[in-house]
Amino acid sequence: MGKPVRLALLGCGTVGSEVVRLLHEQAADLAARVGAPIEIAGIAVRRPNRTRGDLPVDPALFTTDALGLVKRDDVDVVVEVVGGIEPARTWLVEALRSGKSAVTANKALLAEDGGTLHDAAAEGGADLFYEASVAGAIPLLRPLRDSLHGDSITRVTGIVNGTTNFILSAMDATGAGFTEALEEATALGYAEADPTADVEGFDAAAKAAILASLAFHTRVGADDVHREGITEVSAADMASAKAMGCTIKLLCIAERGPGADGAESVSVRVHPAMIPRSHPLASVGDAFNAVFVEAVAAGQLMFYGRGAGGAPTASAVLGDIVAVARNRLAGVHTASESAYADLPIRPMGEAVTRYHISLDVADRAGVLAAVAGVFARHDVSIATVRQSGRDTDASLVIVTHRAPDAALAATVGELRGLDVVRSIASVLRVEGGQ
Ligand code: NDP
Ligand code: HSE
Repeated sequence: MGKPVRLALLGCGTVGSEVVRLLHEQAADLAARVGAPIEIAGIAVRRPNRTRGDLPVDPALFTTDALGLVKRDDVDVVVEVVGGIEPARTWLVEALRSGKSAVTANKALLAEDGGTLHDAAAEGGADLFYEASVAGAIPLLRPLRDSLHGDSITRVTGIVNGTTNFILSAMDATGAGFTEALEEATALGYAEADPTADVEGFDAAAKAAILASLAFHTRVGADDVHREGITEVSAADMASAKAMGCTIKLLCIAERGPGADGAESVSVRVHPAMIPRSHPLASVGDAFNAVFVEAVAAGQLMFYGRGAGGAPTASAVLGDIVAVARNRLAGVHTASESAYADLPIRPMGEAVTRYHISLDVADRAGVLAAVAGVFARHDVSIATVRQSGRDTDASLVIVTHRAPDAALAATVGELRGLDVVRSIASVLRVEGGQ
Protein backbone atom coordinates (compact mmCIF):
# COMPACT_ATOMS: atom_id res chain seq x y z
CA MET A 1 0.00 0.00 0.00
CA GLY A 2 1.19 3.45 -0.90
CA LYS A 3 0.88 6.61 1.17
CA PRO A 4 -2.77 7.71 1.61
CA VAL A 5 -4.18 9.99 -1.08
CA ARG A 6 -5.84 12.88 0.79
CA LEU A 7 -8.92 14.64 -0.53
CA ALA A 8 -10.31 18.11 0.06
CA LEU A 9 -14.04 17.68 -0.49
CA LEU A 10 -15.69 20.99 -1.39
CA GLY A 11 -19.44 20.58 -0.90
CA CYS A 12 -21.43 17.96 0.97
CA GLY A 13 -24.95 18.31 -0.46
CA THR A 14 -26.84 15.90 -2.72
CA VAL A 15 -23.70 14.70 -4.52
CA GLY A 16 -21.01 15.37 -1.88
CA SER A 17 -22.78 13.42 0.87
CA GLU A 18 -23.00 10.38 -1.43
CA VAL A 19 -19.31 10.75 -2.26
CA VAL A 20 -18.60 10.60 1.50
CA ARG A 21 -20.85 7.55 1.87
CA LEU A 22 -19.27 5.66 -1.03
CA LEU A 23 -15.73 6.50 0.14
CA HIS A 24 -16.64 5.07 3.55
CA GLU A 25 -18.53 1.98 2.39
CA GLN A 26 -15.99 1.00 -0.26
CA ALA A 27 -12.83 2.09 1.52
CA ALA A 28 -11.11 -1.30 1.39
CA ASP A 29 -11.95 -1.97 -2.27
CA LEU A 30 -10.98 1.53 -3.33
CA ALA A 31 -7.63 1.21 -1.53
CA ALA A 32 -7.00 -2.10 -3.29
CA ARG A 33 -7.92 -0.66 -6.69
CA VAL A 34 -5.83 2.49 -6.25
CA GLY A 35 -2.93 0.91 -4.36
CA ALA A 36 -3.30 3.36 -1.45
CA PRO A 37 -6.05 4.36 0.96
CA ILE A 38 -8.16 7.38 0.07
CA GLU A 39 -8.74 9.69 3.01
CA ILE A 40 -10.83 12.83 3.46
CA ALA A 41 -8.60 15.64 4.79
CA GLY A 42 -11.47 18.10 5.18
CA ILE A 43 -14.94 19.02 3.92
CA ALA A 44 -15.86 22.60 3.03
CA VAL A 45 -19.52 23.55 3.37
CA ARG A 46 -21.57 26.69 3.92
CA ARG A 47 -23.14 25.55 7.21
CA PRO A 48 -20.65 23.35 9.10
CA ASN A 49 -22.92 22.82 12.10
CA ARG A 50 -25.88 21.55 10.08
CA THR A 51 -27.10 18.08 11.04
CA ARG A 52 -26.20 15.66 8.25
CA GLY A 53 -28.15 12.58 9.28
CA ASP A 54 -26.12 9.43 9.64
CA LEU A 55 -23.31 10.54 7.36
CA PRO A 56 -20.29 8.38 8.29
CA VAL A 57 -17.84 11.23 8.82
CA ASP A 58 -16.01 12.96 11.69
CA PRO A 59 -17.78 16.33 12.32
CA ALA A 60 -14.36 17.88 13.02
CA LEU A 61 -13.58 17.62 9.30
CA PHE A 62 -16.12 20.32 8.36
CA THR A 63 -14.96 23.86 7.66
CA THR A 64 -16.23 26.98 5.91
CA ASP A 65 -12.72 27.87 4.73
CA ALA A 66 -12.67 26.11 1.35
CA LEU A 67 -9.67 28.02 0.01
CA GLY A 68 -7.67 27.34 3.16
CA LEU A 69 -8.50 23.64 2.83
CA VAL A 70 -7.43 23.58 -0.84
CA LYS A 71 -4.08 25.14 0.09
CA ARG A 72 -3.27 22.73 2.93
CA ASP A 73 -0.03 20.78 2.47
CA ASP A 74 -1.71 17.50 3.41
CA VAL A 75 -4.25 17.75 0.53
CA ASP A 76 -3.39 15.90 -2.71
CA VAL A 77 -6.67 16.02 -4.66
CA VAL A 78 -9.53 18.55 -4.64
CA VAL A 79 -13.08 17.33 -5.28
CA GLU A 80 -15.47 20.20 -6.06
CA VAL A 81 -19.21 19.46 -5.74
CA VAL A 82 -20.49 22.89 -4.75
CA GLY A 83 -21.47 24.26 -8.17
CA GLY A 84 -21.68 27.78 -9.64
CA ILE A 85 -18.94 29.92 -11.16
CA GLU A 86 -17.39 31.62 -8.15
CA PRO A 87 -15.87 30.80 -5.73
CA ALA A 88 -15.59 27.32 -7.31
CA ARG A 89 -13.34 28.65 -10.12
CA THR A 90 -10.94 30.29 -7.65
CA TRP A 91 -10.65 27.08 -5.61
CA LEU A 92 -10.08 24.86 -8.64
CA VAL A 93 -7.55 27.21 -10.27
CA GLU A 94 -5.65 27.44 -6.97
CA ALA A 95 -5.57 23.64 -6.68
CA LEU A 96 -4.60 22.93 -10.29
CA ARG A 97 -1.89 25.61 -10.52
CA SER A 98 -0.27 24.21 -7.40
CA GLY A 99 -0.20 20.72 -8.95
CA LYS A 100 -3.16 19.25 -7.05
CA SER A 101 -5.44 17.27 -9.31
CA ALA A 102 -9.12 18.15 -9.33
CA VAL A 103 -12.39 16.32 -9.84
CA THR A 104 -15.50 18.38 -10.43
CA ALA A 105 -19.18 17.90 -11.38
CA ASN A 106 -19.55 21.59 -12.20
CA LYS A 107 -20.98 21.78 -15.73
CA ALA A 108 -21.87 25.46 -15.38
CA LEU A 109 -18.25 26.41 -14.68
CA LEU A 110 -16.79 24.10 -17.33
CA ALA A 111 -19.12 25.54 -19.98
CA GLU A 112 -18.60 29.12 -18.86
CA ASP A 113 -14.83 29.10 -18.42
CA GLY A 114 -13.44 25.60 -18.93
CA GLY A 115 -10.43 27.07 -20.71
CA THR A 116 -9.18 28.73 -17.52
CA LEU A 117 -9.39 25.41 -15.67
CA HIS A 118 -7.62 23.51 -18.46
CA ASP A 119 -4.90 26.16 -18.62
CA ALA A 120 -4.42 25.94 -14.85
CA ALA A 121 -4.19 22.13 -15.06
CA ALA A 122 -1.56 22.36 -17.81
CA GLU A 123 0.37 24.97 -15.85
CA GLY A 124 0.39 22.90 -12.66
CA GLY A 125 0.88 19.53 -14.35
CA ALA A 126 -2.31 18.28 -12.69
CA ASP A 127 -5.32 16.19 -13.71
CA LEU A 128 -8.73 17.80 -14.30
CA PHE A 129 -11.49 15.18 -14.47
CA TYR A 130 -15.20 15.98 -14.77
CA GLU A 131 -17.10 12.84 -15.77
CA ALA A 132 -20.07 13.72 -13.52
CA SER A 133 -20.63 17.09 -15.19
CA VAL A 134 -22.55 15.57 -18.15
CA ALA A 135 -25.19 12.87 -17.86
CA GLY A 136 -24.44 11.98 -14.21
CA ALA A 137 -23.63 8.31 -13.85
CA ILE A 138 -23.21 7.56 -17.56
CA PRO A 139 -19.58 6.87 -18.53
CA LEU A 140 -19.49 9.25 -21.47
CA LEU A 141 -16.70 11.81 -21.23
CA ARG A 142 -13.96 9.20 -20.74
CA PRO A 143 -15.13 7.32 -23.90
CA LEU A 144 -15.12 10.61 -25.83
CA ARG A 145 -11.80 11.70 -24.36
CA ASP A 146 -9.96 8.36 -24.48
CA SER A 147 -11.69 5.42 -26.20
CA LEU A 148 -12.72 7.36 -29.31
CA HIS A 149 -9.52 9.34 -29.67
CA GLY A 150 -8.45 7.20 -32.61
CA ASP A 151 -11.66 7.97 -34.47
CA SER A 152 -13.42 11.06 -35.86
CA ILE A 153 -16.70 11.94 -34.19
CA THR A 154 -19.14 13.55 -36.58
CA ARG A 155 -22.24 14.03 -34.45
CA VAL A 156 -23.41 13.81 -30.85
CA THR A 157 -27.16 13.82 -30.19
CA GLY A 158 -28.30 13.60 -26.61
CA ILE A 159 -31.00 13.84 -24.03
CA VAL A 160 -28.90 15.31 -21.23
CA ASN A 161 -31.47 16.88 -18.94
CA GLY A 162 -33.55 14.55 -16.80
CA THR A 163 -36.07 17.12 -15.62
CA THR A 164 -37.18 18.11 -19.10
CA ASN A 165 -37.17 14.50 -20.26
CA PHE A 166 -39.50 13.64 -17.39
CA ILE A 167 -41.83 16.51 -18.36
CA LEU A 168 -41.89 15.67 -22.07
CA SER A 169 -42.31 11.95 -21.37
CA ALA A 170 -45.30 12.76 -19.12
CA MET A 171 -46.79 15.01 -21.81
CA ASP A 172 -46.35 12.20 -24.33
CA ALA A 173 -47.87 9.54 -22.05
CA THR A 174 -50.86 11.46 -20.68
CA GLY A 175 -51.58 14.27 -23.12
CA ALA A 176 -50.90 16.80 -20.35
CA GLY A 177 -49.78 20.35 -21.13
CA PHE A 178 -46.38 21.73 -20.12
CA THR A 179 -47.56 23.44 -16.91
CA GLU A 180 -49.37 20.35 -15.64
CA ALA A 181 -46.38 18.10 -16.40
CA LEU A 182 -44.00 20.56 -14.70
CA GLU A 183 -46.22 20.51 -11.60
CA GLU A 184 -46.00 16.71 -11.53
CA ALA A 185 -42.19 16.86 -11.96
CA THR A 186 -41.97 19.32 -9.05
CA ALA A 187 -44.26 17.24 -6.81
CA LEU A 188 -42.13 14.14 -7.45
CA GLY A 189 -38.87 16.00 -6.74
CA TYR A 190 -37.53 15.90 -10.34
CA ALA A 191 -37.84 19.64 -10.94
CA GLU A 192 -36.22 22.20 -8.64
CA ALA A 193 -38.23 24.98 -6.97
CA ASP A 194 -36.80 27.27 -9.65
CA PRO A 195 -36.82 25.10 -12.78
CA THR A 196 -35.49 27.82 -15.12
CA ALA A 197 -32.06 26.27 -15.75
CA ASP A 198 -33.68 23.02 -16.81
CA VAL A 199 -36.82 24.07 -18.69
CA GLU A 200 -35.14 26.95 -20.53
CA GLY A 201 -32.33 24.67 -21.69
CA PHE A 202 -29.42 26.33 -19.84
CA ASP A 203 -28.38 23.07 -18.12
CA ALA A 204 -28.50 21.13 -21.39
CA ALA A 205 -26.61 23.90 -23.20
CA ALA A 206 -23.76 23.74 -20.66
CA LYS A 207 -23.54 19.97 -21.15
CA ALA A 208 -23.70 20.37 -24.93
CA ALA A 209 -20.72 22.74 -24.79
CA ILE A 210 -18.70 20.20 -22.77
CA LEU A 211 -19.60 17.35 -25.14
CA ALA A 212 -18.80 19.37 -28.26
CA SER A 213 -15.43 20.48 -26.86
CA LEU A 214 -14.40 16.88 -26.23
CA ALA A 215 -15.89 15.45 -29.43
CA PHE A 216 -14.43 18.02 -31.81
CA HIS A 217 -11.13 19.01 -30.12
CA THR A 218 -12.28 22.61 -30.01
CA ARG A 219 -13.10 24.94 -27.14
CA VAL A 220 -16.87 25.39 -27.14
CA GLY A 221 -18.51 27.56 -24.46
CA ALA A 222 -22.12 27.93 -23.35
CA ASP A 223 -22.36 31.15 -25.40
CA ASP A 224 -21.57 29.19 -28.56
CA VAL A 225 -24.63 26.99 -28.09
CA HIS A 226 -27.96 27.95 -29.68
CA ARG A 227 -30.48 27.37 -26.88
CA GLU A 228 -34.27 27.00 -26.78
CA GLY A 229 -36.19 25.50 -23.86
CA ILE A 230 -39.40 23.47 -23.70
CA THR A 231 -41.81 26.00 -22.17
CA GLU A 232 -43.52 26.62 -25.52
CA VAL A 233 -44.11 22.93 -26.28
CA SER A 234 -47.87 22.40 -26.11
CA ALA A 235 -50.16 19.40 -25.77
CA ALA A 236 -51.20 20.10 -29.39
CA ASP A 237 -47.55 19.85 -30.52
CA MET A 238 -47.21 16.51 -28.77
CA ALA A 239 -50.46 15.28 -30.35
CA SER A 240 -49.22 16.39 -33.75
CA ALA A 241 -45.93 14.57 -33.16
CA LYS A 242 -47.85 11.43 -32.25
CA ALA A 243 -49.91 11.70 -35.43
CA MET A 244 -46.63 11.64 -37.38
CA GLY A 245 -45.28 8.62 -35.47
CA CYS A 246 -42.92 10.88 -33.48
CA THR A 247 -42.41 12.17 -29.97
CA ILE A 248 -40.82 15.42 -28.77
CA LYS A 249 -37.52 15.48 -26.85
CA LEU A 250 -35.22 18.27 -25.70
CA LEU A 251 -32.14 17.40 -27.74
CA CYS A 252 -28.59 18.61 -27.61
CA ILE A 253 -27.05 18.28 -31.05
CA ALA A 254 -23.38 18.86 -31.77
CA GLU A 255 -22.22 18.39 -35.35
CA ARG A 256 -18.98 18.72 -37.22
CA GLY A 257 -18.99 19.40 -40.94
CA PRO A 258 -18.65 21.97 -43.68
CA GLY A 259 -20.43 25.29 -43.16
CA ALA A 260 -21.95 27.50 -45.85
CA ASP A 261 -18.45 28.50 -47.00
CA GLY A 262 -17.38 24.85 -47.25
CA ALA A 263 -14.91 25.16 -44.36
CA GLU A 264 -14.97 22.57 -41.58
CA SER A 265 -16.84 23.92 -38.56
CA VAL A 266 -18.87 22.98 -35.51
CA SER A 267 -22.55 23.59 -34.79
CA VAL A 268 -24.03 23.11 -31.31
CA ARG A 269 -27.68 23.55 -30.46
CA VAL A 270 -30.22 22.67 -27.79
CA HIS A 271 -33.90 22.76 -28.62
CA PRO A 272 -37.04 20.63 -28.52
CA ALA A 273 -37.41 18.47 -31.61
CA MET A 274 -39.68 15.79 -32.99
CA ILE A 275 -37.98 12.44 -33.44
CA PRO A 276 -39.46 9.26 -34.91
CA ARG A 277 -40.56 6.70 -32.34
CA SER A 278 -38.18 4.25 -34.03
CA HIS A 279 -35.15 6.42 -33.09
CA PRO A 280 -33.20 5.00 -30.11
CA LEU A 281 -33.59 8.30 -28.21
CA ALA A 282 -37.40 8.20 -28.50
CA SER A 283 -37.67 5.36 -26.00
CA VAL A 284 -35.63 7.17 -23.34
CA GLY A 285 -38.33 7.92 -20.80
CA ASP A 286 -38.74 9.28 -17.30
CA ALA A 287 -35.74 11.28 -16.05
CA PHE A 288 -33.17 9.13 -17.85
CA ASN A 289 -30.44 10.51 -20.08
CA ALA A 290 -29.01 9.03 -23.26
CA VAL A 291 -26.41 10.15 -25.74
CA PHE A 292 -26.06 8.92 -29.29
CA VAL A 293 -22.56 9.29 -30.75
CA GLU A 294 -21.72 8.88 -34.44
CA ALA A 295 -18.11 8.36 -35.47
CA VAL A 296 -16.51 7.61 -38.83
CA ALA A 297 -15.06 4.20 -37.97
CA ALA A 298 -17.05 3.17 -34.90
CA GLY A 299 -20.42 3.98 -36.44
CA GLN A 300 -23.30 4.58 -34.04
CA LEU A 301 -22.90 4.26 -30.26
CA MET A 302 -25.49 4.79 -27.57
CA PHE A 303 -24.87 5.66 -23.89
CA TYR A 304 -27.81 5.40 -21.51
CA GLY A 305 -28.45 5.74 -17.79
CA ARG A 306 -29.21 8.01 -14.87
CA GLY A 307 -28.16 11.59 -15.48
CA ALA A 308 -28.73 12.95 -11.99
CA GLY A 309 -29.21 12.07 -8.33
CA GLY A 310 -26.80 11.82 -5.44
CA ALA A 311 -25.60 8.22 -5.73
CA PRO A 312 -25.46 7.99 -9.56
CA THR A 313 -23.54 11.25 -9.82
CA ALA A 314 -21.25 10.24 -6.94
CA SER A 315 -20.45 7.04 -8.86
CA ALA A 316 -18.95 9.14 -11.65
CA VAL A 317 -17.10 11.34 -9.14
CA LEU A 318 -15.63 8.24 -7.45
CA GLY A 319 -14.47 6.89 -10.82
CA ASP A 320 -12.59 10.14 -11.38
CA ILE A 321 -11.13 10.08 -7.86
CA VAL A 322 -9.76 6.58 -8.48
CA ALA A 323 -8.29 7.67 -11.83
CA VAL A 324 -6.51 10.76 -10.49
CA ALA A 325 -5.34 8.90 -7.37
CA ARG A 326 -3.79 6.18 -9.53
CA ASN A 327 -2.11 8.81 -11.69
CA ARG A 328 -0.77 10.50 -8.58
CA LEU A 329 0.76 7.27 -7.30
CA ALA A 330 2.26 6.58 -10.73
CA GLY A 331 3.64 10.13 -10.88
CA VAL A 332 1.84 10.90 -14.15
CA HIS A 333 -1.09 13.00 -15.27
CA THR A 334 -3.48 12.83 -18.22
CA ALA A 335 -3.65 15.77 -20.60
CA SER A 336 -7.11 17.04 -19.79
CA GLU A 337 -7.76 19.01 -22.94
CA SER A 338 -7.39 18.41 -26.64
CA ALA A 339 -8.34 21.62 -28.45
CA TYR A 340 -5.92 21.46 -31.37
CA ALA A 341 -8.61 21.47 -34.09
CA ASP A 342 -9.81 24.91 -32.98
CA LEU A 343 -12.73 24.82 -35.43
CA PRO A 344 -14.96 27.86 -35.98
CA ILE A 345 -18.49 27.76 -34.57
CA ARG A 346 -21.19 27.78 -37.23
CA PRO A 347 -24.11 30.19 -36.69
CA MET A 348 -27.54 28.65 -36.05
CA GLY A 349 -28.77 29.98 -39.39
CA GLU A 350 -26.53 27.42 -41.12
CA ALA A 351 -27.86 24.43 -39.16
CA VAL A 352 -29.70 22.18 -41.58
CA THR A 353 -32.70 20.13 -40.47
CA ARG A 354 -36.38 19.46 -41.19
CA TYR A 355 -39.28 21.46 -39.77
CA HIS A 356 -42.87 20.93 -38.65
CA ILE A 357 -44.98 24.07 -38.93
CA SER A 358 -48.59 24.34 -37.71
CA LEU A 359 -50.56 27.32 -38.92
CA ASP A 360 -54.15 28.48 -38.91
CA VAL A 361 -55.26 29.88 -42.26
CA ALA A 362 -58.36 31.10 -44.05
CA ASP A 363 -60.01 28.22 -45.95
CA ARG A 364 -60.58 29.54 -49.45
CA ALA A 365 -59.23 29.10 -52.97
CA GLY A 366 -55.60 30.05 -53.47
CA VAL A 367 -54.56 29.92 -49.80
CA LEU A 368 -52.49 26.75 -50.12
CA ALA A 369 -50.82 28.13 -53.23
CA ALA A 370 -49.97 31.40 -51.42
CA VAL A 371 -48.51 29.53 -48.46
CA ALA A 372 -46.56 27.13 -50.71
CA GLY A 373 -45.24 30.11 -52.66
CA VAL A 374 -43.60 31.52 -49.52
CA PHE A 375 -41.77 28.23 -48.93
CA ALA A 376 -40.68 28.15 -52.58
CA ARG A 377 -39.34 31.72 -52.46
CA HIS A 378 -37.01 30.76 -49.62
CA ASP A 379 -35.99 27.50 -51.27
CA VAL A 380 -37.57 25.41 -48.50
CA SER A 381 -38.98 22.25 -50.01
CA ILE A 382 -42.28 20.94 -48.59
CA ALA A 383 -42.39 17.19 -47.84
CA THR A 384 -45.97 16.79 -46.58
CA VAL A 385 -49.06 18.93 -45.99
CA ARG A 386 -51.96 17.97 -43.77
CA GLN A 387 -55.12 20.10 -43.70
CA SER A 388 -58.15 19.91 -41.45
CA GLY A 389 -60.98 22.35 -42.02
CA ARG A 390 -63.14 24.30 -39.56
CA ASP A 391 -65.81 26.33 -41.41
CA THR A 392 -63.99 29.29 -42.96
CA ASP A 393 -60.70 28.42 -41.23
CA ALA A 394 -58.32 25.54 -41.74
CA SER A 395 -55.43 24.13 -39.79
CA LEU A 396 -52.36 23.35 -41.90
CA VAL A 397 -49.47 21.16 -40.78
CA ILE A 398 -46.49 21.38 -43.09
CA VAL A 399 -43.36 19.24 -42.80
CA THR A 400 -40.37 20.31 -44.86
CA HIS A 401 -37.38 18.57 -46.33
CA ARG A 402 -33.97 19.56 -44.93
CA ALA A 403 -33.32 23.28 -45.11
CA PRO A 404 -31.03 25.81 -43.41
CA ASP A 405 -32.44 27.38 -40.23
CA ALA A 406 -32.07 30.88 -41.70
CA ALA A 407 -34.24 29.94 -44.69
CA LEU A 408 -36.91 28.53 -42.41
CA ALA A 409 -36.83 31.63 -40.19
CA ALA A 410 -37.28 33.84 -43.27
CA THR A 411 -40.15 31.62 -44.43
CA VAL A 412 -41.92 31.87 -41.08
CA GLY A 413 -41.33 35.64 -41.00
CA GLU A 414 -42.99 36.06 -44.40
CA LEU A 415 -45.85 33.69 -43.50
CA ARG A 416 -46.64 35.86 -40.47
CA GLY A 417 -47.20 38.81 -42.83
CA LEU A 418 -49.52 36.90 -45.17
CA ASP A 419 -53.15 38.10 -44.77
CA VAL A 420 -54.54 34.56 -45.21
CA VAL A 421 -52.45 33.28 -42.28
CA ARG A 422 -54.37 33.82 -39.03
CA SER A 423 -51.60 32.53 -36.73
CA ILE A 424 -48.57 30.28 -36.63
CA ALA A 425 -49.32 27.85 -33.83
CA SER A 426 -45.87 26.26 -33.64
CA VAL A 427 -42.59 25.67 -35.40
CA LEU A 428 -40.66 22.57 -34.34
CA ARG A 429 -37.56 20.99 -35.78
CA VAL A 430 -37.71 17.35 -36.87
CA GLU A 431 -34.59 15.26 -36.27
CA GLY A 432 -33.49 11.73 -36.71
CA GLY A 433 -35.14 10.68 -39.95
CA GLN A 434 -34.56 10.99 -43.65
P1 NDP B 1 -26.22 20.93 -3.34
O1 NDP B 1 -26.86 22.27 -3.38
O2 NDP B 1 -27.02 19.78 -2.87
O3 NDP B 1 -24.90 21.00 -2.43
C1 NDP B 1 -24.01 22.07 -2.49
C2 NDP B 1 -22.99 21.94 -1.37
O4 NDP B 1 -22.06 23.01 -1.49
C3 NDP B 1 -23.57 21.99 0.03
O5 NDP B 1 -22.92 21.08 0.86
C4 NDP B 1 -23.25 23.42 0.48
O6 NDP B 1 -23.05 23.54 1.89
C5 NDP B 1 -21.93 23.67 -0.22
N1 NDP B 1 -21.66 25.08 -0.47
C6 NDP B 1 -22.44 25.98 -1.10
N2 NDP B 1 -21.81 27.19 -1.14
C7 NDP B 1 -20.62 27.02 -0.52
C8 NDP B 1 -19.54 27.90 -0.21
N3 NDP B 1 -19.54 29.17 -0.58
N4 NDP B 1 -18.48 27.38 0.45
C9 NDP B 1 -18.45 26.07 0.82
N5 NDP B 1 -19.44 25.21 0.57
C10 NDP B 1 -20.52 25.68 -0.09
O7 NDP B 1 -25.63 20.66 -4.81
P2 NDP B 1 -25.50 19.26 -5.58
O8 NDP B 1 -24.81 18.30 -4.71
O9 NDP B 1 -26.82 18.91 -6.15
O10 NDP B 1 -24.59 19.67 -6.83
C11 NDP B 1 -23.20 19.85 -6.70
C12 NDP B 1 -22.56 19.94 -8.08
O11 NDP B 1 -22.82 18.75 -8.79
C13 NDP B 1 -23.10 21.09 -8.96
O12 NDP B 1 -22.06 21.59 -9.75
C14 NDP B 1 -24.13 20.39 -9.83
O13 NDP B 1 -24.35 21.03 -11.06
C15 NDP B 1 -23.44 19.06 -10.04
N6 NDP B 1 -24.33 17.97 -10.41
C16 NDP B 1 -25.38 17.65 -9.61
C17 NDP B 1 -26.22 16.63 -9.93
C18 NDP B 1 -27.37 16.26 -9.06
O14 NDP B 1 -28.11 15.33 -9.43
N7 NDP B 1 -27.58 16.91 -7.92
C19 NDP B 1 -26.01 15.83 -11.16
C20 NDP B 1 -24.82 16.20 -11.91
C21 NDP B 1 -24.03 17.24 -11.54
P3 NDP B 1 -24.22 23.20 2.95
O15 NDP B 1 -24.35 21.71 2.93
O16 NDP B 1 -23.72 23.72 4.23
O17 NDP B 1 -25.42 23.91 2.43
N1 HSE C 1 -31.05 19.35 -13.36
C1 HSE C 1 -30.29 18.36 -14.04
C2 HSE C 1 -31.26 17.43 -14.78
C3 HSE C 1 -29.43 17.60 -13.03
O1 HSE C 1 -32.48 17.56 -14.66
O2 HSE C 1 -30.80 16.57 -15.52
C4 HSE C 1 -28.27 16.90 -13.66
O3 HSE C 1 -27.34 17.77 -14.21
